[in-house]
Amino acid sequence: MKISIIGAGNVGSTIALLTTCFDLADVVILDILEDLAKAKALDISHALSALNCDRGIKATADYREISDSDIVVITAGLPRKPGMSREQLVQSNSEIVKEIILNIKQFAPNAIVLVVTNPLDSMTYLAYKLSGFSSKKVLGMAGVLDASRFKELISKATSAKRSKIATSVLGTHGDTMVPLLSQTEVEGKPICDLLKESQIDEILTQTKNTGGEIVSLLKTGSAYYGPAASCFKMCSAILRDKKEILPASVYLEDEYGLKDVCVGVPVCLGKEGIEKIIELKLTKSELDALHKSAQSVKETLRCMKLTE
Ligand code: APR
Repeated sequence: MKISIIGAGNVGSTIALLTTCFDLADVVILDILEDLAKAKALDISHALSALNCDRGIKATADYREISDSDIVVITAGLPRKPGMSREQLVQSNSEIVKEIILNIKQFAPNAIVLVVTNPLDSMTYLAYKLSGFSSKKVLGMAGVLDASRFKELISKATSAKRSKIATSVLGTHGDTMVPLLSQTEVEGKPICDLLKESQIDEILTQTKNTGGEIVSLLKTGSAYYGPAASCFKMCSAILRDKKEILPASVYLEDEYGLKDVCVGVPVCLGKEGIEKIIELKLTKSELDALHKSAQSVKETLRCMKLTE
């Protein structure tokens, strides 16, 4: 199995480390800064040696090296600066994603494309439209990360172990994300029976703001361990054909009453990519929130002149 990662920065290199250390696939990391990619690959190779892992890691700036990839992960692009929204990255990152997609089309036409670059849902839409790939083969990582952040805050508030909490977050990777309270359970009990409404509201606000909190604390760059682990989880579901249900940003063709937009919904991930879009029975307020979320993505797409 082979995963190519475009962008050898913080997120890309951490995905490379997890993918090789956990024996999921051989990795190619590609960056316009070839020396940066080489340095990261060399460093990761030493980690693999320390841990007696036999997976291969290769650095390059040449797209021919991504041929025969099972998955190509796009992490290239600018991260947020303190005070910035993800949408403010749209101009710079859409140019970068366009160039990358054309290269994936040429050199890895059979790959599944996993987008991590922000603003996530708009970049996933751009990747889908420009690639001409099947909608089953292009997806974006956001909901797994947002759900992990939500879960972490629930764990702190209830003292429950992370592994005993089940939840999901749909919608866009931003202020209009949709944490599914109706699907959130702690040790099998509904969250609404365990925490007061005011506590839940506080957790929801923190879930939306915690990415920005990391950006402020770091001063340069944005989160990468959480995003990389979430991306690894999705790659693992695909390459190990787990048929795992995870949230992902995907192109919708009337599912949940939404059309011609990419936004986070639950999907079944396996070796074919998005094997099924799962239509959960949402409460009215969750469905309304999902539509509002999709509307915000459409606004960004309109600014990019990608949709009417
Ligand atoms: N082709 C290849 N690599 C590129 C290109 C390009 N056209 N443009 C930029 N890059 C590379 C940069 O050289 C850099 O090494 O992308 C890398 C980005 O790495 P970081 O700046 O460390 O950013 P990172 O934290 O990894 O975030 C990347 O993921 O979570 C999102 O919002 C985040 O959009 C951002 C992306």
